[in-house]
Amino acid sequence: MTYRVIPVPPFDYVVFGGTGDLARRKLLPALYHRFRDGQIVDGSRIIAVSRSKLSDSAYRSMTQKALGDFLADGDRDAPTVDRFVRMLFHVQADASGDAGWERLAKLLKSRDDTVRAFYLAVGPALFGGICRRLGQIGLVTPLTRVVIEKPFGHDLKSAHAVNETVGTVFDEEQVFRIDHYLGKETVQNLMVLRFGNVLYEPLWNSNLIDHVQITVAETLGAESRGAYYDTAGALRDMVQNHILQLLCLVAMEPPDSYDANSIRDEKLKILKALRPVGGDNAEAVTVRGQYRAGAANGGAVPGYCEEIGVAESATETFVALKAEISNWRWANVPFYLRTGKRLPARMSEIVIAFKPIPHSIFPRGAGIAQPNRLVIRLQPDEGVKQWIMIKDPGPGGMRMTHVPLDMSFAKEFQVRHPDAYERLLLDVIRGDQTLFMRRDEVEAAWRWVDPIREAWELSGAAPKPYIAGSWGPSAAIALIERDGRAWHGD
Ligand SMILES: NC(=O)c1ccc[n+]([C@@H]2O[C@H](COP(=O)([O-])OP(=O)(O)OC[C@H]3O[C@@H](n4cnc5c(N)ncnc54)[C@H](OP(=O)(O)O)[C@@H]3O)[C@@H](O)[C@H]2O)c1
Repeated sequence: MTYRVIPVPPFDYVVFGGTGDLARRKLLPALYHRFRDGQIVDGSRIIAVSRSKLSDSAYRSMTQKALGDFLADGDRDAPTVDRFVRMLFHVQADASGDAGWERLAKLLKSRDDTVRAFYLAVGPALFGGICRRLGQIGLVTPLTRVVIEKPFGHDLKSAHAVNETVGTVFDEEQVFRIDHYLGKETVQNLMVLRFGNVLYEPLWNSNLIDHVQITVAETLGAESRGAYYDTAGALRDMVQNHILQLLCLVAMEPPDSYDANSIRDEKLKILKALRPVGGDNAEAVTVRGQYRAGAANGGAVPGYCEEIGVAESATETFVALKAEISNWRWANVPFYLRTGKRLPARMSEIVIAFKPIPHSIFPRGAGIAQPNRLVIRLQPDEGVKQWIMIKDPGPGGMRMTHVPLDMSFAKEFQVRHPDAYERLLLDVIRGDQTLFMRRDEVEAAWRWVDPIREAWELSGAAPKPYIAGSWGPSAAIALIERDGRAWHGD
């Protein structure tokens, strides 16, 4: 048992949008877990802000219901929930108007010497106004931090504008751009595997790695997020942030320390080294798709347009692409990336596919040595498996078999995998930006993604259809098979 909880001093967490889906589904349950584990101590306050007319006690009841809805039964016990909700408050305020701010200021000002975090769980159109107002009414102290949720803009220009506005009130050291994928236990384990062992680093390059695959698959469709999703699409919603962040962690050089800026400097170098994809090669190395009616989650589902109630849409719900990193380590090692909605499984996975052995010494009857693979599973069942060849045990002569070495030790240590938000929310209080994106990273990611979108728009071609419940358009399979490879698990 290696579970260790280090309490943090009392703080004030102000959640703009504290009644919304993100707050109820993710933020409040995560804070509850940290409270139950003893990391959040009495004297801390969680102050929700929304336009709803809610007393503190009505907000506490709403939170009790949310915890009932979104926590597993075994994770809840009534006395702890009662103690937790006592640290919750609700302030009715309109982020884009004047009403309500006085009460917020009054609640906070008496505690200027306490760490204070503003979590903007509201639409991005409100970010600028909230930040400006917080500055004007003197709520931004040196101990204040702001947490911003994606989308960080919808292209380079808009991301730059959001960053400029936030930057007029907060220093970069106070800004926490959250990508919850980075808070996943397995993503952090990837860094320990790479940089806490001598075994992998000498292999981690084009000499021994054939290619890398990153898949982020959802079974859900656009559903109630249709209005937002139709203006975004898979490239903006998934590739620009989650997938490129994972690619950076796989590909970056060893940072000189586990320190926010050392890691972010290395990630930035990878984003800058990505070979441009645009007008001259977008068609060859990208595939975009849109789901049609099919079957998912055990039942029949409508196609994308029908689901979101539009006659037609050019928005992609699936992307596959082949990325390349122009540096010594990764020359000629393709990174195949794919993500989509209404795929057959909810699954996020990184596959490091090693090269085949150069020569087989074994007799024909022993079988063919399969190339080694390191499979890093982010969800579900977070874990790491190293696929290796062994001798098939027992009699029967020399026969080889491909088996996974399970390197996920959570079961052995009997440790609960905390939700990514649990770690990230408390990292904000500790002022640790290691798992958050820096402004230049976000902008570099847009700089790579924007020309892909522009090339698609210029081509005028519609996204390729795929049946809901399949692994995307057949062109996505052809994209990797053309290179003599296949998607892992297909
Ligand atoms: N839901 C997720 O899982 C998720 C994941 C990643 C990122 N995000 C991002 O997080 C943000 C919030 O998402 P959500 O799903 O929680 O949205 P939501 O369910 O629509 O909630 C929005 C929240 O903002 C409040 N709000 C809206 N306008 C306001 C105003 N003018 N002043 C004060 N409060 C206001 C709403 O309360 P009132 O209407 O009562 O004011 C509500 O609490 C979005 O930018 C979304 O893209 C969400």
